[in-house]
Amino acid sequence: MCGIVGYTGGRPAQDILIEGLRRLEYRGYDSAGIAVEQGGKLEVVHRKGKVGGLAETVANLDIAGTCGIGHTRWATHGKPSERNAHPHTSCGGHIAVVHNGIIENYAELRDELTARGHEFTSDTDTEVVAHLVEEAYVDDLLQAVHEAAARLVGAYALAVVCDSEPGVIVAMRKDSPLVVGQGADGAYVASDMIALIDATRDVVVLGDGEAAKLAPEGIRYFSAFGEEIYEPKVTHVDWDVDLAEKGGYPDFMMKEIHEQPRVIRDTLAGRLVDGHLAIDELDLSHEELNLIDRVYVIACGTSYHAGLIAKNLIEGWARIPTEVEVASEFRYRNPIITPSTLVVAVSQSGETADTLAAIRDARVKGAKVFGITNVVGSPVARESDGVIYTKANKEIAVASTKSFLGQVVSLTLLAMLLAQSKGKLTTNQVRLLFRELADTAEQVEVILSDTAAIDEAALACKDARSALFIGRGMGSAISKEGALKLKEISYLHAEAYPAGEMKHGPIALLDDGFPVIAIATQSPVYDKLVSNLQESKARGAMVVAVATEGDEDIKQHADHVIYIPKVRDAFSAITASVPLQLFARSIAVARGCDVDQPRNLAKSVTVE
Ligand code: AGP
Repeated sequence: MCGIVGYTGGRPAQDILIEGLRRLEYRGYDSAGIAVEQGGKLEVVHRKGKVGGLAETVANLDIAGTCGIGHTRWATHGKPSERNAHPHTSCGGHIAVVHNGIIENYAELRDELTARGHEFTSDTDTEVVAHLVEEAYVDDLLQAVHEAAARLVGAYALAVVCDSEPGVIVAMRKDSPLVVGQGADGAYVASDMIALIDATRDVVVLGDGEAAKLAPEGIRYFSAFGEEIYEPKVTHVDWDVDLAEKGGYPDFMMKEIHEQPRVIRDTLAGRLVDGHLAIDELDLSHEELNLIDRVYVIACGTSYHAGLIAKNLIEGWARIPTEVEVASEFRYRNPIITPSTLVVAVSQSGETADTLAAIRDARVKGAKVFGITNVVGSPVARESDGVIYTKANKEIAVASTKSFLGQVVSLTLLAMLLAQSKGKLTTNQVRLLFRELADTAEQVEVILSDTAAIDEAALACKDARSALFIGRGMGSAISKEGALKLKEISYLHAEAYPAGEMKHGPIALLDDGFPVIAIATQSPVYDKLVSNLQESKARGAMVVAVATEGDEDIKQHADHVIYIPKVRDAFSAITASVPLQLFARSIAVARGCDVDQPRNLAKSVTVE
């Protein structure tokens, strides 16, 4: 989704802004722009399309100014176009604004401002902010932004510049993230730490309603009430510097798929102490955990699928009734929540608007909320009672792979912790499970070391118009993620069904060569699944089976077999998901798709 970057200091701003925008490209966007203050005037350039196009345009202009703001836009109000790209300016072009989020009362504000003579040049909700700041401005940009923000309903992260205050950027946020950092050569602001990583590792994550005033001589912070904050909380970012590079892989998705053994190891490191799971961040005693009698897992997309896997584990081991809900549904109904309800919010980005709203709602209703996220200091982390960080490191490709695996491993630990607290797993059982869980890192390495069968199956399916993913039990949850991955990056329609449901409808789709991708690993329902494969083959379907190493019998029921190492059913999501990621990627590449930045998708969905 949209990305913000801003810089003020001693160096020409344009290159810094373009570089920052490139770092934000992974979020998904449709247009980009910058505004640089130069000689008491704001130079504004926007372009539809990629940052590369904007960079080419900017390179031909002579903009030497040292203070500016930039933006990558993901359309919400008004179609993707140059006219709707940020920054947006006030009537005389004296104020320029970039914005992430949605101004919900923009139509009303626009009518009001138009009636007072303001002329609008875009279809966006953001432009009202520029006009409101213009009206409020006397001689203090910070004050004017505060006054303008008081009129806004909705979510916003804003960076604002003004031609009468050279060198000053005002940043303010509500419900949309913004981080600020002091580098050696100037002050930086961005919607995502990754855009600042070359300049500084110490950043301040602005709190809701807080503001920062950036100037070449330093940064000042202000509370929602306008009082200066003299000692803001500094967060140290310890990511690997080359995490944003492809490291020799053809795309970020491939690189991230190959990082998964490391993610498993890092997520498990230090989590088992004397036969007990050490997840101290949750800040709940075993007695308190023991009282939990209902679990909701709330999430969206891939994270929701991690939740479906967790349901199997929590119910299977801890015997606690568990519901998994899409956050956008959960937030608008009236779920049954009591003080003994645990809500687990899963979000890679930690910014997803629906998941955040669901967290707030659950807490108001009295639930304890645990967040599982990949981003330190993210809104999900800050607004939950406890948080488990997945150790995926920054994920750049829009389609989640390594962060999904990090979520599954973290949720597996949580399920084991709940089971141990309830006395359903003994110390010895926990030790054994933990060892087997740790072994999955090596098993994933084995899968990654030979992908010939996966590529061959992908080649056979690449021209299909639709595909059906099936599985039973744990396999049913895994198949959903397999189908999502395929449609996200290859634009090939894919649907996932519990295999037993096939004959209640989807079997009508099958005819000669229709791809059926089956999770056929060893499990208590393996034989049932094989019957479903026979039904598929009988109707001419082309069956691709993900099966357990050594299962020769499966060859009779499948056209392509992708073998993976044997693991217990509880851990099959970890191993079986990896070939499905590679399968989707391989098809997408064969179809000429941009696997890292699929059309219409955004990495962080910060709007409802
Ligand atoms: C994953 O491949 C997707 N791009 C998407 O479904 C994603 O998982 C979803 O938007 C939720 O995001 P989150 O984990 O950051 O909350």
